[in-house]
Amino acid sequence: MTAESAPGVDRAGAIPPDPSVADPSGPVARGLLPVTAEVDPAGRLRVGGVDLTGLAEEFGTPLFVYDEAHLRAMCREAVEAWGDGVAYATKAFLCVAMARLAHEEGMCLDVSTGGELHVALSAGVPADRLVLHGSNKSDAELSAALEVGVGRIIIDSFDEIDRLERLVAASPGRPKVLARITPGIEVHTHEFVQTGQDDSKFGFGLASGAAAEAVGRLSALDARGVVEFVGIHAHLGSQVFALAPFARAIDVLAGFFAPLGLPELVVGGGLGVAYVNGEEAPPMAEWAVSVRQACRAAGIPDSVRVTAEPGRSIVATAGITLYRVGTVKDIAGHRTYVSVDGGMSDNPRPVLYGSGYEAFLPREVRSARPKAIRVVGKHCETGDVVVSEGYVPEDLVVGDVLATPVTGAYGHSMASNYNKVPRPAVAFIADGVARIVVRRETLDDLVRLDV
Ligand code: LLP
Repeated sequence: MTAESAPGVDRAGAIPPDPSVADPSGPVARGLLPVTAEVDPAGRLRVGGVDLTGLAEEFGTPLFVYDEAHLRAMCREAVEAWGDGVAYATKAFLCVAMARLAHEEGMCLDVSTGGELHVALSAGVPADRLVLHGSNKSDAELSAALEVGVGRIIIDSFDEIDRLERLVAASPGRPKVLARITPGIEVHTHEFVQTGQDDSKFGFGLASGAAAEAVGRLSALDARGVVEFVGIHAHLGSQVFALAPFARAIDVLAGFFAPLGLPELVVGGGLGVAYVNGEEAPPMAEWAVSVRQACRAAGIPDSVRVTAEPGRSIVATAGITLYRVGTVKDIAGHRTYVSVDGGMSDNPRPVLYGSGYEAFLPREVRSARPKAIRVVGKHCETGDVVVSEGYVPEDLVVGDVLATPVTGAYGHSMASNYNKVPRPAVAFIADGVARIVVRRETLDDLVRLDV
């Protein structure tokens, strides 16, 4: 087999920089494809040594496909950049196989609900490698976390402090806790995913004095042996391209954090990824270096464990969604609608945040895409758009497999059964073998909860 490597493929596993292809009708940029992506002599895309068009035939569509080597490389990059304690934010994409993979590659796992906790534990991830988040943790969620002994609990409200104090009395251990602080920084991203500003449902505000009060209460609980108060946490938002806001957050937090003498500081997640041709995001290592530099400059001692909890940047580019084209409608004077067999039920991001994606045909991934189209789903509303401004080769036909790259984060995890569309299967591909890690929902699954 003489598969021709796509430009920039690095067989050692490192992800090369995006060549910044700004032409929307050129081929999809190499940096938007998983690390093992290569093009065979017929122009067809292979990932992990497997032909994607054939994979769609074998497992059906829509199908979430993940390049396992890419996932592993990103986890390793995170551990290398941040050191032990860096946590994968499972909300970006979680199933048993993903939880195992992140754990095997040395990451802790951030879980933000009892459900995510359950999946991580079901995957066999040791509880002490888990970090529990949540802005409204229930008694049941906190009790479950205390019972199994999760590694860290991130405290988000005064009500939670009361609740924890009550529940710890009836549990075996003494949990390690961090206080979540909102530093009052607005990052440039969609307002739905900004979290570090003063007006936020998350954490304790620095400006209002709530942060100082929370620290006082947690220190008192620490002194009484109820909890071990180990650190401060601040998450600014998601899909953040600029590194400067993270450094600014350190600057703002340092005066508050340093005098506490606590051993841990977590900057949350948020590192952005490129979704469309021409976008470029900073690498994980640069993010970590810039945060460390800011810590040093702000007088935070080197002994402090400074870490993060990336989600999107670990999984987004590793994932591709494969759809089958069902209808093509040319509306004269307007546009061409290409309908696929999924939509807002497997990727609600375009509807929720106006997010842009690329579309391409895996059977000719290197071809130019001169035809402007809109990719839409099969749901009963006009807002059901998958790719608002897409480009495809002229010869796209009904029955083609159409792919959207960079769909590994917040697609499967936010999928729904809207219109009673069964949720897609998830396949991991490595070394020429594809394995289904989440099976496709069946029609019977759609009625299994009805009583
Ligand atoms: N840590 C905390 C406390 C978070 O709230 C989040 C994301 C993360 C870490 C991971 O952030 P990431 O590295 O993935 O940006 N559904 C939205 C994203 C919501 C993010 C919520 N929190 C989307 O599809 O863009």
